[in-house]
Amino acid sequence: MAPIDPHSFTDSTHPLTTDISLTLYFNFSTSTITSSAVLTLASPHTGDLVLDTRNLTITLVIDPITNTHIPFHLNPVADPIKGQPLTVSLTNNSKILIGFVTSVSSSALQWLNPPQTFNKKYPFVYTQCQAIHARAIFPCQDTPTSRVRYNAKLNIPHQLSAVMSARHVERRGPVSGEAGLSCDESLWCGEGRIVEEFVMEQPIPPYLFAFAVGEIGCREVGPRTRVYAEAVGSVLDAAAKEFAGTEEMIRVGERLFGEYDWERFDLLVLPPSFPYGGMENPRMVFLTPTVIKGDATGAQVVAHELAHSWTGNLITNKTNDHFWLNEGFTTYAERRIVEAVQGEEIAALNIGIGWKGLVDTVERFKDNIEFTKLLTNQEGVDPDDIYSEIPYEKGFQFLWRIERQIGRAAFDEFVKKYIAAFKFQSIDTQTFLEFLRANVPGIENDIDLKTWTEGTGIPPDAMEPVSNIYTKIVSLAHEFKQGRMPSEEEVANWHGQQWELYLENLPKSVEALQVTALDQRYRLSESKDYEVKVAFLQLAIRSRCNEYYNVVEKTLKEVGRMKYLRPLYTALVQGKEEEKIFAQRVFAETRETYHPIAQGVVESIFSKHL
Ligand code: BES
Ligand code: ZN
Repeated sequence: MAPIDPHSFTDSTHPLTTDISLTLYFNFSTSTITSSAVLTLASPHTGDLVLDTRNLTITLVIDPITNTHIPFHLNPVADPIKGQPLTVSLTNNSKILIGFVTSVSSSALQWLNPPQTFNKKYPFVYTQCQAIHARAIFPCQDTPTSRVRYNAKLNIPHQLSAVMSARHVERRGPVSGEAGLSCDESLWCGEGRIVEEFVMEQPIPPYLFAFAVGEIGCREVGPRTRVYAEAVGSVLDAAAKEFAGTEEMIRVGERLFGEYDWERFDLLVLPPSFPYGGMENPRMVFLTPTVIKGDATGAQVVAHELAHSWTGNLITNKTNDHFWLNEGFTTYAERRIVEAVQGEEIAALNIGIGWKGLVDTVERFKDNIEFTKLLTNQEGVDPDDIYSEIPYEKGFQFLWRIERQIGRAAFDEFVKKYIAAFKFQSIDTQTFLEFLRANVPGIENDIDLKTWTEGTGIPPDAMEPVSNIYTKIVSLAHEFKQGRMPSEEEVANWHGQQWELYLENLPKSVEALQVTALDQRYRLSESKDYEVKVAFLQLAIRSRCNEYYNVVEKTLKEVGRMKYLRPLYTALVQGKEEEKIFAQRVFAETRETYHPIAQGVVESIFSKHL
């Protein structure tokens, strides 16, 4: 008996689930889902089997083949990170049917009332399962070691529609009881409801399970891409324009990393409270609306989520201890796609922005140096609490270092071979290193692989990008201290990324007057690009320019992306009493509109600093 993942109750002696069949009845009036799940095990099992759950009410457990009850026990005490283990006592069963209801406070779901949506007419609900929230939707072995196929029937009000990280099979209804449904379905298909059916034929880790239900419309973007969003013409039009280059990126991905294995690559633009920039749900990437800036720069986030189609969704980290295999590889792959479609200069800027992020994160983690390692030990640690740029940027640097060592052509060949060798598997750092040593003989003599994967901080052979624009912008930022502002001419060709790099390289705090002068000249606090706006507002808070606090408040109230909430709340709570009180007031007034995961993250910022 041994746990196979620090974040799951799954035991090494238990068979893994291979298939899950879900029926979900959405109760928008109570923000709950009444559900059943049939889990198929890899082999029949006798004895206890433990499943992960969080905040689920279990109503029944039976064997659907023999229709007999299966004894079960839901541990009444929840582990603060892993949730409540559900133990089912099996006697040679290979299928388990579980009836359950989700909680209004499910950490995986955000329920929006009509006033919180664009159209203000219908409610909206969506999932976010990574890292360990799938268990707050259905009982499962919530570890990426496990890969499952699934099908799902979503029973929803007929005015709404559903999308999933799966193939859409059909929409049936309105259903009133007879509409061609089998009798067990007719029980839960009430008047004025419809059923949307989906199937995911490729095995995926549970964290990639996803759906959204609401008044959703779509536009064609390319031969295998549609963009979905709340059905408002202007939003859909803007999104379709922003993502017009998607097919070109998919082709670049295929050239670099091998065939695209997921058939479709659709995009869903979520309401502004979506806590991430993007989430790589297979076949249906989820995106924050903040990526739509009207200048096609949102493509970088799409490139990243697309890259996960190979690195992450095909090859998955075995547990979160090896998260860098997902995100470091994807950051590398994203930048290769960006380089191919937008050129070397833009790719270098992104590497430079990442470099600064890495340096700052290592500094921020100086009291928690353990989490500056690529290979982590997350026993007793909530992955949402230690989420940082380390796995992304240090992981990127490691792979880039290997590329420099063996040359691009050889590295490209290596990456292709790596993906082909491990696709549809979940692997650990050791497996990657063994594959590397086997395919690049002698690599360990040139690169200190142990320091890279197990050491803290930034290895000496990590590197800043070499690029004229990058170097120019960084040196301009350093000159700001002497009171020099970039001239109109110097910034003539700057877009969001150039400004972001500039702002992030400015001294941590400067004279308030200088901050105001910079903004009067370049209107950064009004930028439509949140990366720029938030970088500027951070500087404004640290320099105590309180004339910007109304913009800070507005920003904290209109977006729920944690990449923006984290630095803004952190800068505020690190300020004087006045800023802390301001931060608490804004959070108290806004908390309800944030995603449950974002609420938790902001609360932990307060608890660390107040
Ligand atoms: N998979 C991540 C998002 C994630 C990570 C969600 C861990 C939950 C737990 C996604 O691919 C990602 O990295 N998104 C970035 C995009 C950026 C790097 C372009 C984000 O949200 O900022
Ligand atoms: Zn990612």
